[in-house]
Amino acid sequence: MEQKDISQAVIRRMPRYYRFLGELLDEGVERISSNDLSNRMQVTASQIRQDLNNFGGFGQQGYGYNVQFLYDEIGKILGLNEKHNIIVIGAGNLGQALANYVKFEKLGFVITALFDVNPELKGKKIRGIEIHMLDELDEYCKDNPVDIAALTMPKAEADLTAQRLVGLGIKAFWNFAHVDLNISDQDVVVENVHLSESLMQLSYNIVKNKNS
Ligand code: NAI
Repeated sequence: MEQKDISQAVIRRMPRYYRFLGELLDEGVERISSNDLSNRMQVTASQIRQDLNNFGGFGQQGYGYNVQFLYDEIGKILGLNEKHNIIVIGAGNLGQALANYVKFEKLGFVITALFDVNPELKGKKIRGIEIHMLDELDEYCKDNPVDIAALTMPKAEADLTAQRLVGLGIKAFWNFAHVDLNISDQDVVVENVHLSESLMQLSYNIVKNKNS
C-alpha cells in the first residue's frame, strides 16, 4: 500500500486509534461502529471514516469495523508488525529510564544496547541491556542490526553523533536532545520528542483557562 501521500496529521492520529482498539480487544469487543468508536475517542465519525479511507477503509456498511482486523491493519501501517532494534546514546537518567521501560518491546521496539562516554558506566547492565563505551559504536553497528538510535545525551554533541550514526547506516533517530539535527540525507527520518514543549502547551492552556 502506498503511504507517501498520506498526511503526517493522519499518521499522527494512528497511534491513538491503535491504543483505543487495543483497549477494545482487551475488553473482548469484536466489532464496533464508527459512531461508537467516535464516542469513545471523542473524534467525529466522519473524521474516523476519512482517516481510515486513506488506507482503504476497513469498514463494512452495516457492520462497522472488525476490531482485531483494524488493530492489525493499523499495526501494519505503523510498521508494528516488524521488530525495531534501538540503541540508546547517552545512558544517563533518561537513557536508563527508556531502557527500563518494558512495554516498548510489546510494540516491537527492542533496546539492544546503550552507549555512553562515562567509563564508570562501562559494562553496567540496565534490565540486562549492556552499556558500551561510545568508541565501540562503529564495531557494534557493523556487527548488529540497528534500526533506530535514541539520542539521550547532551545537546552539544548530539548533532555530530547523529552524523556519525548516519555514516554507520542508521536511518532513524528518536531525538530527545534539545537540538535540531542537521541531517540532509532524505532517507533518514527523525522524530523529535520534547517533553518541555508539551509542558509549554499545557501551560498555555492553563493560562488561557484562567483568563477566560
Ligand atoms: P544525564 O546527565 O543524566 O545523562 C546524560 C548522559 O549522556 C550521561 O551519562 C553522560 O555521560 C552521557 N554523555 C555525555 N556526552 C556523551 C556523548 N558524547 N555520547 C554519549 N553519551 C554522552 O541527563 P538526562 O537527564 O538523562 O538527559 C539527557 C539528555 O536528554 C539531555 O540532553 C537533556 O536535555 C535531554 N532531555 C530531553 C527531554 C525531552 O523531553 N526531550 C527530557 C529530559 C531530558
